[in-house]
Amino acid sequence: MNILIINGPNLNLLGKREPEIYGTLTFDDVFSSLKARFPEHNFHYVQSNHEGTIIDTLHEHGFTIDGIVLNAGAYTHTSIAIADAIRSITSPVVEVHISNVFQREEFRHHSTISGVCMGTIVGFGFDSYRLAIEALIERAIKK
Ligand code: DQA
Repeated sequence: MNILIINGPNLNLLGKREPEIYGTLTFDDVFSSLKARFPEHNFHYVQSNHEGTIIDTLHEHGFTIDGIVLNAGAYTHTSIAIADAIRSITSPVVEVHISNVFQREEFRHHSTISGVCMGTIVGFGFDSYRLAIEALIERAIKK
């Protein structure tokens, strides 16, 4: 399978950003271990701090790629445009969050994108990405 991971705003700072919440690993570390864990699959990675770039990336790959893992960062809670983009494409999208957003501030409890994603994985640290990939693989096997 070809799987695209998209990380949204501020997730380029993983490793430095609020380590008590997001840990001390960089996403490069995480990406390397995901590739090693699923050697039979191809992984692509895009990080952007810009809503429009995330939408362009969804449009560009969302009709051809086998699955998308999306951590939209804070856009999760605000972006109708990203929700509309997910609605418009055909590739399955799994929403992920590193932290358990439901244990945090009230404004993080609402997601504009959950309803248009295949499913949501929240609060397992970087393991949220692995679980999302497994969900995409399982879905492809069952198809
Ligand atoms: C996050 C949770 C969001 O509320 C926050 O804005 C992020 C990261 C997470 O992975 O836990 O940037 O998506």
